Amino acid sequence: MQHTVIAIDGPAASGKSSVSRELAQRLGYVYVNTGAMYRAVTWHALQLAVDPSDASAIEHLLETTSLECGVSDGRSCFLVNGVDPNEALVSPPVNAAVSKIASQPVVRRRLVDLQRGCAELFPTVVEGRDIGTVVFPGTPHKFYIDASPEVRAARRAGQGLHDPVVQRDAMDSARQDSPLMIARDAVVIDSSNLSVGEVVSDVLKQLQGKGITAKVQ
Ligand code: CDP
Repeated sequence: MQHTVIAIDGPAASGKSSVSRELAQRLGYVYVNTGAMYRAVTWHALQLAVDPSDASAIEHLLETTSLECGVSDGRSCFLVNGVDPNEALVSPPVNAAVSKIASQPVVRRRLVDLQRGCAELFPTVVEGRDIGTVVFPGTPHKFYIDASPEVRAARRAGQGLHDPVVQRDAMDSARQDSPLMIARDAVVIDSSNLSVGEVVSDVLKQLQGKGITAKVQ
């Protein structure tokens, strides 16, 4: 059975994770963070000193690695050889290498299969870069959350994390396979001057017009 998928795309630190998490909770849907999956594969490659730019080494790595996507507490969890990397997902080395790993088609194929599998089981809010364009192009519920580069840099710095967001965005937008782009039929929301709650309200208002209502007010 095909469940409802709400696709939330956007550049780094645009606020889409906070919005997606709250939106999923309000709707009673499962929150799927696809960025965490690319980060987990990156963490694993770095642990084994595999070069993120070496396509055949990455392919071999994936052939010998178990990747599992599950759900716990209303959100996706992702295990690499049975391990959840947790805080290591946002470490500086992972921030620096993730866009390279995410540009590898072999990685994308494997993770997109898992993302689609998760959405077969539950109604989901799925957050990423290519959700509305590639992973679920057929969903009628697509949002692209943006914010000015200054606001995004300030948000990430406020989290105390070293993260080259400008370089990541440039790589994510320029790659051949599934680049970051706005789906033709996505609703674009500029969150630069909006709180998370305001963006969520805006999204919920649009969904209500299509017969999807919040379970939690
Ligand atoms: O939290 P933030 O927006 O900074 O990043 P993220 O969603 O955790 O994604 C980390 C990286 O994973 C991105 O910079 C992309 O390179 C990659 N990614 C992707 O290629 N496709 C997705 N659907 C999600 C993330």
